[in-house]
Amino acid sequence: MASEMTAYVIEEHGDPDVFARTTTDVPDPAPNEIRVEVVASSLNPVDYKIRQGAIPDFSPELPAILHCDVAGVVDAVGENVTTFEPGDAVYGMPGGARRHGSLAEYVVGHAGTFAHAPETIPLADAAALPVVALTAWEMLTDKTTVGIGDEVLVYGGAGGVGHIGVQLADWLGADVTATASSDDKRAFAADLGADATVDYTTTDVETYVEAHASNGGFDVVFDPVGDDHLQTAFEAVCPYGTVVTTESSSTQDLAAMHQRSLTLGVVLVILPVLLGERQARIGDELADIARLVDDGAIEPHIEERFPFAAVADAHRLGEDGSFNGKILLLNE
Ligand SMILES: NC(=O)c1ccc[n+]([C@@H]2O[C@H](COP(=O)([O-])OP(=O)(O)OC[C@H]3O[C@@H](n4cnc5c(N)ncnc54)[C@H](OP(=O)(O)O)[C@@H]3O)[C@@H](O)[C@H]2O)c1
Repeated sequence: MASEMTAYVIEEHGDPDVFARTTTDVPDPAPNEIRVEVVASSLNPVDYKIRQGAIPDFSPELPAILHCDVAGVVDAVGENVTTFEPGDAVYGMPGGARRHGSLAEYVVGHAGTFAHAPETIPLADAAALPVVALTAWEMLTDKTTVGIGDEVLVYGGAGGVGHIGVQLADWLGADVTATASSDDKRAFAADLGADATVDYTTTDVETYVEAHASNGGFDVVFDPVGDDHLQTAFEAVCPYGTVVTTESSSTQDLAAMHQRSLTLGVVLVILPVLLGERQARIGDELADIARLVDDGAIEPHIEERFPFAAVADAHRLGEDGSFNGKILLLNE
């Protein structure tokens, strides 16, 4: 095989035009790592926040190959790897934070950060799943438990994490209310399985709690937005209820948590990659998620597809926020 590959790198942090196409050495897998020939990646906010320089601690060393999600075919395995062999179709979250990511012809990563890809969707589409599905999975099954008839409020129900959250909560048997800012996004969330939808831009928290929750609040509030949404979540949840969030890096008044004896669960799904430990957590969860996809419980909605060469356009659309579900990036 060739010793060099095409990669899209950033040499400095900045606007979407900082991406540059370059040629670099094909990386070799270290012990416990695999090398994957990349079919596709997808866009997550963490990718554009790293590109912007907004979360410098997460950035791989410059010049950096970004993007956390990947789907592809195993090309080589390092020492000690017994779970995969060349030719396996896999999806995973091997890097893109602190170590190089997937916006290249090949990516290497710890074998524990991968699982065999779902078999019932195209391999490329599986790249839409890792970050958002792992996040929704950890929010609803690790940080809390959701059972039949539980009332779950999903903020950002049309977004990347939220659109999996709606499907997963529905599959777990919950009564799901989803918020979104436009008619189109609310119709999308309803199609995914939300029993009710709310325009949070025109409806205050007391009104939608009164309309859609029976015990003075929702059993679980699923918040993949943070800031004002997190503060509102403390008012929307019922006594003894649970708020699960992806974004707690803001200052909030916790008085409502005390008054209602609430539980708060915070997810940082990329942590095994940042720490370089406990990677098997990712692969084990992705194996469960692949089964859910193959059972028809969840599926990724892909709104737009861009070739790697148009990564700047993908980032502009992602930062604009005017899309449903996910934006896919294809190695073509
Ligand atoms: N901690 C973790 O492990 C983790 C993992 C995944 C994602 N995240 C974070 O969770 C957040 C959501 O991720 P995502 O993949 O769902 O993103 P996304 O696909 O861009 O969706 C975000 C949704 O949030 C809503 N929103 C409200 N205020 C917003 C604002 N100021 N800017 C953008 N969107 C806003 C939007 O819905 P409306 O238009 O309906 O308001 C949008 O559909 C991001 O901040 C991301 O970094 C964290």
